[in-house]
Amino acid sequence: MFGLGDKNSSNSLVMNTAHPDSLLDKGAQDVIGKPISRIDGPLKVSGHAAYAAEYGLANVAYGFLVGSTVGKGKITELHAEVAREVPGVIDVVVDYKTFLRNSQQGGEKKAPTQGVENVDYVGEPVAIVIAETYEAARDAAERVRLAVEYQEQEGRYSFNAYREEAKKPPYNNIPSHYDQGDVEKALAEAPVTLDRTYTTPSQNSAAMEPHASIASWDDDGRLTLYASLQMLSSDRQQLADALGLKLDKVRLVARYVGGGFGSKLGIAPESVAAAIAAKKLGRPVKVVMARQQVFEATVRRSNTEQRIRLGANADGTLTAIAHETICSNLPGEGYFEPAGQSTHFMYGGKNRLITHDLVELDWMLSGSMRAPGEAVGMLALETAMDELAETLGMDPIELRRRNDPDKDPEKNVPYSSRMLTQCMDKGAELFGWSERREALGDRRGDWFHGIGMAGAGRSNILMKSAAKVTVDGQGHAIVETDMTDIGTGTYTILAQIAAEMLGLPIEDVTVHLGDTDAPPGAGSGGSWGATSSGSSVYLACEALQKQIADKMGVEVGAMTLKDGRVIAENRSVPLAELVGDGINATGQVAPGLQAKLTTQASYGAHFAEVAVNAITGETRVVRMLGVFAAGRILNEKTARSQCLGGMTFGIGAALTEEVVHDPRNGKVVNHDLAEYHVPVNADVPALEVHFLDERDVHANPIHAKGIGELGICGAGAAIANAINNAVGVRMRDYPLTLDKLL
Ligand code: MOS
Repeated sequence: MFGLGDKNSSNSLVMNTAHPDSLLDKGAQDVIGKPISRIDGPLKVSGHAAYAAEYGLANVAYGFLVGSTVGKGKITELHAEVAREVPGVIDVVVDYKTFLRNSQQGGEKKAPTQGVENVDYVGEPVAIVIAETYEAARDAAERVRLAVEYQEQEGRYSFNAYREEAKKPPYNNIPSHYDQGDVEKALAEAPVTLDRTYTTPSQNSAAMEPHASIASWDDDGRLTLYASLQMLSSDRQQLADALGLKLDKVRLVARYVGGGFGSKLGIAPESVAAAIAAKKLGRPVKVVMARQQVFEATVRRSNTEQRIRLGANADGTLTAIAHETICSNLPGEGYFEPAGQSTHFMYGGKNRLITHDLVELDWMLSGSMRAPGEAVGMLALETAMDELAETLGMDPIELRRRNDPDKDPEKNVPYSSRMLTQCMDKGAELFGWSERREALGDRRGDWFHGIGMAGAGRSNILMKSAAKVTVDGQGHAIVETDMTDIGTGTYTILAQIAAEMLGLPIEDVTVHLGDTDAPPGAGSGGSWGATSSGSSVYLACEALQKQIADKMGVEVGAMTLKDGRVIAENRSVPLAELVGDGINATGQVAPGLQAKLTTQASYGAHFAEVAVNAITGETRVVRMLGVFAAGRILNEKTARSQCLGGMTFGIGAALTEEVVHDPRNGKVVNHDLAEYHVPVNADVPALEVHFLDERDVHANPIHAKGIGELGICGAGAAIANAINNAVGVRMRDYPLTLDKLL
């Protein structure tokens, strides 16, 4: 089905060197980068785009998960029989071994098996009730939930009570500790120092579409799971592992996904439960999590405590940066919130200490949420930089400019591209930064106004990714990969790349995503989706260009592909005619040496104006502006939407979002969107987004860098800094609510 053996039909690139020329710059369609509306938009607004729970499978049964009511303990009696009180109930499936706790991260190790009857957090699925209707399943599941008997054990439910016990994560995919030079000595000798501690609470991704799965087994024992997932290739492996199946016995389908923000990077309990129940019943089973279950039984972003110490010369040059962080997770879990990730490369300074320690708590599992690490790490770092600027009596932009290194301060390699200073300068000009006044210097009625800024930086990553592109006998192009579109615009940008490369109007490109029967793509995560999957489509099209040139009897460079025609040497042939029955090629990109030879990141600068009420202490964001440089922008409209979404997340992180854990059992108290406050329209003023023109030849053959998570990085810190500029109060405990200000 999928191979890269055939030289004529495949094109594989390992990024070992820079890729100075991109054929996208030579395309004659002029469609790449353009603000084209989502090609899947009409399907979505007309209800024709099927999300996970919307596949109409015959004879489907409905499952509803039963969550634990205790934080830590053992089940002594489950009382499945109470489900029978509800008409329409088919079965209660209890299979602790498999759906107790799936590693959400797809990391190198799995959580240790806790034993069949143990529960590890409130809300952890312990059973699933299956019924003929959703309502019956939910009703019966609630009865079972309240009937389960537990022997409770002592749990650890308070971060502050156990923070002293924080230690190095047991294992990790990225290094948790980094030490360079002598930070303590440098701090002792620095003429100016700052030592501050910031805290951020647990957060929830709160994607619009809840986690949902429909499982269906065929007669050959092959499972098809329609699910709401971000990274199908690794999700497929996780599901196969959880069920003890060979990979080819699992097919995942996720053509449309209503947001994920990290919470759907890995499979969640409902996928495994649906698969087990469907197998047992011999009919398809659909499981849709209630909003409360999304909050309790998927993943949270960990809370963090972050101590930042900075040492600087009188001119603002940093001599020491220490960013020591603590987060929390369940016992035995290795995932930590990498809050110091951007601190490694944002600013210069010879002496550096960046650490991530982990406290074991019996709260729900923590995992990735949009810009895992930087999103909350930069709330601390970018506020600390503002505090240092204040201490120095220096403009915050000037302080950052003076610490803008010309190479990576830790790895001694160049940046692949870096336009942080340009972003700050452009933003300052567009925002009117020069009008910034002293704290309490701008009172308008009951409101104090203030402005603040913050830098943004987010690592750029390339992932192995493959795609097949076909030009059929009618001259239409078809793109196929198991890459997903989680609302980000993947369908559209892949169509733009194929259209540009093949000289086709975008209407003549069809994109098929979200099915593991297609070549394995990068998946949507880590801001690598567009660049990795886009590069694989590019490479497939590059191979097709060679095939087309061969058929035309010319060199690739002597040929122009435009408006569905192949033009060379006074000849103009319709592509459809030239390709006969059709041609196809598969492209695959993979990271290589280049990722080590350069430090790759996207950059930006956030500016915020806030109004703080003199009487109530309430903060309102008045306006925000972001300037971003992320290599080639593939579609100015969808990229802009990514940044708007990121900035909106930043408003939430700064002012409203906080998962509250009950100190008695760790339960998520505010487990719905009424109580967990994501920003609503009234909280989000008109936001402005600008892009700087940039190409990154070291990143990938399409010269683009990640943008999905950039917009959130630093956004909340700009608001915190604006509050300080408005009223001269520094809050370091996010979210910055009025009770903390007064
Ligand atoms: Mo992202 S948190 O890698 O979806």
